[in-house]
Amino acid sequence: MFDLVIRNATLPDGTTGTDIACAGGLIAAIEPGITAEAAQVIDATGRLVSPPFVDPHFHMDATLSLGRPRMNVSGTLLEGIALWGELKEIQTVDEIVTRALAYCDIAVSMGIGAIRSHVDTCDPRLTGVQALLEVREQVKDYLDLQLVAFPQDGVLRAPGAMENTLRALDMGVDIVGGIPHFERTMADGAASTRRLCEIAAERGLMVDMHCDESDDPLSRHVETLAFETQRLGLQGRVAGSHLTSMHSMDNYYVSKLIALMAEADLRVIPNPLINIMLQGRHDTYPKRRGQTRVRELRDAGLVVGFGSDCVKDPWYSLGRADMLDVAAMGLHVGQLSSREDMRWCFDAVTVNSAAIMGLEGYGLAQGKKADMVILQARDPIEALRLRAARLYVIRRGRVIARTPAATAELSLPGRPGSVDPAA
Ligand code: FE2
Repeated sequence: MFDLVIRNATLPDGTTGTDIACAGGLIAAIEPGITAEAAQVIDATGRLVSPPFVDPHFHMDATLSLGRPRMNVSGTLLEGIALWGELKEIQTVDEIVTRALAYCDIAVSMGIGAIRSHVDTCDPRLTGVQALLEVREQVKDYLDLQLVAFPQDGVLRAPGAMENTLRALDMGVDIVGGIPHFERTMADGAASTRRLCEIAAERGLMVDMHCDESDDPLSRHVETLAFETQRLGLQGRVAGSHLTSMHSMDNYYVSKLIALMAEADLRVIPNPLINIMLQGRHDTYPKRRGQTRVRELRDAGLVVGFGSDCVKDPWYSLGRADMLDVAAMGLHVGQLSSREDMRWCFDAVTVNSAAIMGLEGYGLAQGKKADMVILQARDPIEALRLRAARLYVIRRGRVIARTPAATAELSLPGRPGSVDPAA
């Protein structure tokens, strides 16, 4: 007797006609023709069943704050950081908890099973840290939340930031973050990268830095990040988020850099929605896209996962926790249009991001956690094309969110009475 059986699923690898049986929160069997009884049976009718979406880069202490205390008029990263500074002064722990929980509700409904969120550690009260540690505990049964200690104003540039970042790690924040391109000088940026990687090595933690989120082709802190990763034996545990300056770098230099990054097994987290909005703001025409070199990094063997970064906050006023939207933007900006490339973009918001976060028991296989999403699409490319509805969101073998299939009624002479966008 299983808790749940999903019949007639199509898997992301194209396998059709598969049944998935769940028991005790795990996938007990995944094969065709499972006949044993189950407390609940869902007929997937050939639709795509995927492991949950994973968002490897987010800012949950800022989300859903749009307009408080004012809007970002210029639309730039720097005005966003200044506006965030104003919000930090006035927001309370309760306010952040309320907004973050509301965001987690939306994220779960959109099939997200895990989020890595940066949390600002420059505020001496550590308001965001207190709030998100509480949220991490409150949501743990339905959402895996990883926290990165993120000294937004520069761990060397902002008074007290190093001490506060260490306090945040002592309080239980999971990962060491940084922002070397925001330090006062290139030398300080490199020094901050070195020191933060050392802290991670001393404490046995992962690293995830906002790195070179700029259009400056000479912003090369990722080189230091790769070097320090190797020097300290942190291979596979260090991520570079954004890396947008790579878009503008000299091609010869990049040919050396990517090899160094691959040696260090750096993890790469572009944030397509945000960077297509923020980068190139100082350009006239032609305007640079500012997305890092996704295809080249992937082809060099680096693990690349797309993050959403922001939803309704000082940097980005749109967004709806839709990782398919994030992947579709990454696909367009990176011109990843072959069938293989598009399928890979689906991986970039599922399995690749799960690998970056180090999620245990993730994936559709016997013995893995029974976490999955049934989408209103037949395959990953169609899911991307349609931003397919998340018909069922399943966590540990239990349905935790449902969305009705998208359909429209038609009143047209000689035409069918309704249309299914996934037909
Ligand atoms: Fe970010």
